[in-house]
Amino acid sequence: MADAEHLEDLLEHSLEETVALVTGASSGIGEATAIALAEQGATVSIAARRKDRLDSLAQRISSIGGRAHVIEADVTDEAQARSMVEQTVRELGRLDTLVNNAGVMLLGPIVDAPTEEWRRMVHLNLLGLLYCTHAALPHLLEAAERGPRNVADIVNVSSVAGRVARLGSGVYNATKWGVVAFSESLRQEVTARHVRVTIVEPGAVMTELATHLRPEILEEQARNFEGTELMRSEDIARTVVFAVTQPRHVAINELLVRPTEQVR
Ligand SMILES: NC(=O)c1ccc[n+]([C@@H]2O[C@H](COP(=O)([O-])OP(=O)(O)OC[C@H]3O[C@@H](n4cnc5c(N)ncnc54)[C@H](OP(=O)(O)O)[C@@H]3O)[C@@H](O)[C@H]2O)c1
Repeated sequence: MADAEHLEDLLEHSLEETVALVTGASSGIGEATAIALAEQGATVSIAARRKDRLDSLAQRISSIGGRAHVIEADVTDEAQARSMVEQTVRELGRLDTLVNNAGVMLLGPIVDAPTEEWRRMVHLNLLGLLYCTHAALPHLLEAAERGPRNVADIVNVSSVAGRVARLGSGVYNATKWGVVAFSESLRQEVTARHVRVTIVEPGAVMTELATHLRPEILEEQARNFEGTELMRSEDIARTVVFAVTQPRHVAINELLVRPTEQVR
């Protein structure tokens, strides 16, 4: 390709003039993804429950020349999920990219499990993601029809656990499997209207995710990954950027990303 054409191609796929909403942006993968999208020129709406963390992230994004809008929201509450999306569109004018990242992983055996942990996972990993998607879809369809790129993106963060079931991971597996199934059905529904649906399935990433485990489960988890060089949140943020900066005619449907040393 000639140089001028190549440059034009790059510009066409940057995220300038677009708005991205990232859930679970107060730590880990969501935080890194918000920064990475801002670096590509997107204005980012950053949502989670810990407002202090979001405020620091917004400052960091503005210090690198980006723009961020903080929204305190618990996405397990349908009204809050809807208001988060509406606030984004009201304040920032549009919505081109939704990253459904907020999630919790409460591992452990099924026998004698505290079923409150199951409810937390189903409410956040599944229902929360469904609420955010439902609220965002009309705006994403609008962006795909009339936006600067004529394409919009939903990135759903599932997990290797959405593809490989493991002993001690049954309900987390069920929620992430559900994310994969829902995403594929949604993809078939909206892809012809240029809303792309990407599933990102990380292996082990060094974040706060495991800090919510019961101590005995945390110990077991640490043993399972002893000696494995884990991924960093930025590694997953890069894959999200890869997916959403593709040319309009290319949709990355699924990305399974493991640390090199992770076997299963
Ligand atoms: N780390 C890994 O090894 C790994 C592997 C595969 C998949 N994943 C997936 O990656 C995603 C991000 O996890 P992470 O590893 O980055 O963990 P993390 O650092 O614990 O981040 C989880 C995020 O979710 C937010 N969150 C939790 N409950 C929420 C609620 N009710 N409403 C809104 N936001 C909520 C948290 O913010 P607040 O507490 O401030 O609300 C936090 O920002 C999850 O879906 C996880 O399942 C992670």
